[in-house]
Amino acid sequence: MAKVERIGILTSGGDAPGMNAAIRAVVRCASVAGIECYGIDDGYTGLIEGEVHKIDSRFVSDIIQKGGTILRTSRCPQFLEYEYRQKGYEVLQAYGIDGLVVIGGGGSLAGMNEFSKDFGIPCVGIPGTIDNDLAYTDFTLGFDTAVNTVLSAINNVRDTMTAHNRACIIEVMGRHCGDIALYSGISGGAEIILVPEIPFNVKDLAKTIKLDRIKGKKSVIIILAEGVCSCSELKEQLLAEIEEISIRTVKLGYIQRGGTPTMCDRMLAARCGARAVELFIKGNIGGRAVGIKNNKIIDVDIDEALNTESCFDKELYEIGKILGK
Ligand code: F6P
Repeated sequence: MAKVERIGILTSGGDAPGMNAAIRAVVRCASVAGIECYGIDDGYTGLIEGEVHKIDSRFVSDIIQKGGTILRTSRCPQFLEYEYRQKGYEVLQAYGIDGLVVIGGGGSLAGMNEFSKDFGIPCVGIPGTIDNDLAYTDFTLGFDTAVNTVLSAINNVRDTMTAHNRACIIEVMGRHCGDIALYSGISGGAEIILVPEIPFNVKDLAKTIKLDRIKGKKSVIIILAEGVCSCSELKEQLLAEIEEISIRTVKLGYIQRGGTPTMCDRMLAARCGARAVELFIKGNIGGRAVGIKNNKIIDVDIDEALNTESCFDKELYEIGKILGK
């Protein structure tokens, strides 16, 4: 197939700061290249239901600084079924759309992969998830903003914990990937970082907290990824081991997913969006995923992207342990 002439854009899965900046980048680059853009609302659900409308460079004005996604999003298990993907394809055909951009996380890009293979439609995935759990790319859209949000929470919590000589467990997002905990823990000066990739022992943890007290630390910040356990569960386990230290908990939850994107997320969005459009101009692309490796924008076959084995940065984790002492 030659150059794509009309692309659809959708955001899918958990929203992430920077998704709007990516929509803007795709639309503006496409428009300069003479490619028409259609926004698909509500992710794959909207694709199946035909929620499609034409968008242009003006439609994406004044959104670069906004969190969430102006196209809205959804989690859409139906898209796992061929029958519903077929409906989505028929919708694209009805609008003469011959290329698709999906901005989302692992599940969303996997759906895109199936869709592209089923109907031979060129698709480009842009990694958008605060979890940073796509191994083919160093960073995903939203991760930097989420970590900065956690950092600001750590700063506030630290003040009050120090004032009261307390320990605090701060629970952050990340079901399978501990990157939010790891990066915010290291840059926030946490004493302890707990991630799903590295098992922990509650007795050792209690010892570390007691030792911190002996060393003269006035507060102990424990950053806990939600994939390990909940902050209340951990508090209960710790209280069974240490009675002398008062422990508080904070679950940051969805606060981490909103907010204005940082410079890093906006730049990643701009660069990924531009590469996505370059790919459509090139044509014959099948399914591809764009991302960033060693600060260079990359694009890889979608199968390769999804099959890249995730590898947690143990070296960084060890640095975090030393810096928390
Ligand atoms: O988008 C990723 C994420 O924020 C995870 O960190 C979190 O576990 C999950 O989404 C929450 O999903 P939902 O919005 O469906 O509650």
